[in-house]
Amino acid sequence: MSGFDLLVVGDANPDVLVWGAPETPPAGQAETLVDGGTLALGGSAAIMAHGAAVLGLSTALAAMVGRDAAGDFVLDTLTAAGVDISGCVRHESLPTALTVCLNRPDGDRAILTAPGCLPAFGPEHVPAVRTRHVHAASYFLQPRLAAGLPEVLGRFRRAGASTSLDTNDDPAGTWRLAPGLLAACDFVLPNEAEALALAGALTGEPVSGGLPAALSVLAADGAVPVVKRGGEGAVALFDGAAVSARGPRVTPVDTVGAGDGFDAGFLAGRLASGDFAEALAWGCACGALSTRATGGTGGQPTAAEARPVAAQVQVTPWMSE
Ligand SMILES: Nc1ncnc2c1ncn2[C@@H]1O[C@H](COP(=O)(O)OP(=O)(O)OP(=O)(O)O)[C@@H](O)[C@H]1O
Ligand SMILES: [Mg+2]
Repeated sequence: MSGFDLLVVGDANPDVLVWGAPETPPAGQAETLVDGGTLALGGSAAIMAHGAAVLGLSTALAAMVGRDAAGDFVLDTLTAAGVDISGCVRHESLPTALTVCLNRPDGDRAILTAPGCLPAFGPEHVPAVRTRHVHAASYFLQPRLAAGLPEVLGRFRRAGASTSLDTNDDPAGTWRLAPGLLAACDFVLPNEAEALALAGALTGEPVSGGLPAALSVLAADGAVPVVKRGGEGAVALFDGAAVSARGPRVTPVDTVGAGDGFDAGFLAGRLASGDFAEALAWGCACGALSTRATGGTGGQPTAAEARPVAAQVQVTPWMSE
């Protein structure tokens, strides 16, 4: 592999999406019929890489899957979208990770993840390719990679690449980042709950000033925090100024992967224009469009589809409510 726009480092697995399951499915070997179910590409890194490729970026993924049908599905789906998978490795004995999403009518969901081989994925598996940007995803699901991530991102930076991190959720609830990690990131891309939790772990106490305070904490080492807020769009702290980006609110069909679609759009906008407001507009456009179909990748837009929506996104100074 050589000369990519984007290298994505992180998790890849099938998502089994289920609609209409009861809050607690009855046991006793009872068969419960539900409204719908779909198999889709999952894993924040894989969904993000797929979205970037659909937008036209030359994209490589570094991830670990098992030697199983789930791994075949993941790699075949990525290849079909044009993602370079030559940096993906297959674990000899551990299975590919697997996620089951129980989607609720209100848009919320319960997420069950079997990590499989994800804990075995480490910094030594990240290929030294030439790339303009490196994005790392699902930090807390990959503890071996996490420990070495500051060094990995630092190495790419010294070679001239920019860097970003989307931690996603921390199932253990510690939210602790490796020392030096944020200093190795140009952008950190959490959602609002994640931003508050990460800032709380960094300061050692719950942040009392809400999201504005969390933005300042996350920005302390030089990374630009960009916080995703669902239908409210995103807010960021750039050059000391808080900005809000808001596009047309959509009624989602399925919000799985909206955050990863946002990340892909944000970086596509950034790499195409070098402009931060443009990056935010593309992030909001691609996040919103990704909700128009089921699964993380079903609604991902092409650049031609995203451009007119990005043009409708308002980027303004942010006064917190
Ligand atoms: N209903 C909506 N209307 C308009 N835009 C939306 C809507 N839902 C999501 N978006 C866009 O998608 C972005 C990402 O969505 P969200 O805030 O849900 O991310 P997330 O919590 O990281 O999601 P994920 O579960 O994929 O990690 C938002 O910042 C917003 O720009
Ligand atoms: Mg997210």
